[in-house]
Amino acid sequence: MNSIRLTRPDDWHTHLRDGAALELTVAHAARSFARSIVMPNLVPPVTTTALAAAYRERILHHLPQGADWAPLMTLYLTDNTDPEDLVAGAEQGVVTACKLYPAGATTNSDSGVTDIDKIFPVLSAMQQAGIPLLIHGEVTDADIDIFDREAVFIERHLKRIVESFPDLKVVLEHITTRQAAEFVASAGDRVAATITAHHLMYNRNHMLVGGIRPHYYCLPILKRNEHQQALIDAATSGDASFFLGTDSAPHNQSAKETACGCAGCYTAWQALEMYATVFDQANALDKLEAFASLNGPAFYQLPVNTTQVELQRQPLEIPTSFAMGGETLVPLDAGETLGWSLVQ
Ligand code: DOR
Ligand code: ZN
Repeated sequence: MNSIRLTRPDDWHTHLRDGAALELTVAHAARSFARSIVMPNLVPPVTTTALAAAYRERILHHLPQGADWAPLMTLYLTDNTDPEDLVAGAEQGVVTACKLYPAGATTNSDSGVTDIDKIFPVLSAMQQAGIPLLIHGEVTDADIDIFDREAVFIERHLKRIVESFPDLKVVLEHITTRQAAEFVASAGDRVAATITAHHLMYNRNHMLVGGIRPHYYCLPILKRNEHQQALIDAATSGDASFFLGTDSAPHNQSAKETACGCAGCYTAWQALEMYATVFDQANALDKLEAFASLNGPAFYQLPVNTTQVELQRQPLEIPTSFAMGGETLVPLDAGETLGWSLVQ
């Protein structure tokens, strides 16, 4: 097969940032996707409906002419989130979902939730209103190894959340382990997971063998190859609980290539071609449309997109860098070539 047509995909997890970054990040999101779930971990975070509405306006201001794309906004949960505000935000069509960052788990998560019990009233309101809970599923305890933080989160917290709120829609974001894939596959229709292109394509050897490659550093961190294989199996299984979420996360080159580099892989521009490459290698191109374009809308109870995209087996060269608001942004695999490309 040298060409495939798909219903236009959506990205169910991305970071666009704010201000001058939006000119680039919005254009890149709109290159391949019709809708993107926009993460709220700005500085300061998007914690209220009013902040989400204002952020959406700033994003839409950068929509390229003729683009077929829309942002879907999320709220950042804190210990003090007001359930009435988020339910009103969902009713007004401003808020699509809410994001749980355990405090300190990742980039700009300092205002996150310090104790999940503190947001039980909020989760109850979300369950009642049908608002999905999106979870960064890692514990932050200093004594838990960074490679185990997702699996421990599932045991200590996720199982309790799912049991305590039997109708709450939950997305375990950017899963990285066999344990996560198995949990989501066995947890029924209302528990789902996003999987990034980089966690499908890479494992920790790619980051660490032969030198330390900071552009592969993200959270949750890349795991062993057996976990990578479990993610590929989940994504290509046809199970509707798994769908596309790039977790594309722009950082300036100077913040990535330094003694203490920050977490995030920038893939927005080429992620769709990365997914096509992985599905092709797994002989599962026939499963790509469900993963990229159908399973997400079904979970979020949103319409499936009505337009299509075409991918061809043609080399795609990933740019060596992008200019982002006067700074330099280096995408993942800068300067390398993928075997599939989107027909523009
Ligand atoms: O690698 C990551 N980068 N993981 C996250 O959870 C956050 C993201 C970011 O905001 O840069
Ligand atoms: Zn993210």
